Amino acid sequence: MASKSYKAGFKKYYGNRLDNISNETTEGEIKRIYDDWAGEYEESLVVAAGAIYYKPFTESFDEIVKQVIKDKPKDKMKIIDVAAGTGLIGVELQKLGYTNLHALDISQEMLKEAEKKDVYKKFVCAALNDQRIPEIETGEYDALVCGGTMLTGHIRSSALVEMIRIVKVGGLICFNIRDGQLVDYQGTISELETSGKWEIVSKTVIPFFESDGMPKETMVFIYKVLDVIT
Ligand SMILES: C[S@@+](CC[C@H](N)C(=O)[O-])C[C@H]1O[C@@H](n2cnc3c(N)ncnc32)[C@H](O)[C@@H]1O
Repeated sequence: MASKSYKAGFKKYYGNRLDNISNETTEGEIKRIYDDWAGEYEESLVVAAGAIYYKPFTESFDEIVKQVIKDKPKDKMKIIDVAAGTGLIGVELQKLGYTNLHALDISQEMLKEAEKKDVYKKFVCAALNDQRIPEIETGEYDALVCGGTMLTGHIRSSALVEMIRIVKVGGLICFNIRDGQLVDYQGTISELETSGKWEIVSKTVIPFFESDGMPKETMVFIYKVLDVIT
């Protein structure tokens, strides 16, 4: 992972799973890592590493939905949880009243774990990257959330265009990035702002992990889609 200072923490709680992740890591390798990890992922992330971001992440999203999306009840909003993993974010969204949830992930095994949570209506096993995902229509979703996955070797900045494509104009895109990783995304984020594709609605700092050696804070960004990408 990019930021060297957390390598010891990742090693301690995740074993050697993320040792060799870099910008050169292939989607095939990522899929294999998470397929292997799926059954123990929450034990590592939540119990050992003390991840606590998923609740404040969804609360930040909820706060902005209340301000921006006034014409649709929460349970009617069609939301895609990108890189849903085992469904930690989906569970919190459901508690807040969002029940029309779809999950997308590159790893079928992670999606199988997510299915057990019983909060998603549809599962899409696909990689989010710079390619169009044929089974998702342009402007299909009222909102997209992506928690804990905008990081080295995972969802790259080139995927931001596809994120915008699948959300309708006026819809929201919510993701978190921790400080040391923002440099990999900032250029594309700004280009998309300058070209009028989206605008920032909110940027907040939330707690991330509690255990020693792990990043303590992350930034939640919420963008509003302004233009159709075809
Ligand atoms: C760190 S986990 C985060 C999962 C979940 N959002 C959470 O907060 O617990 C990263 C997830 O992203 C998925 N993933 C990584 N790169 C991906 C990509 N390019 N497209 C889709 N899923 C991806 C992995 O399979 C894994 O389930």
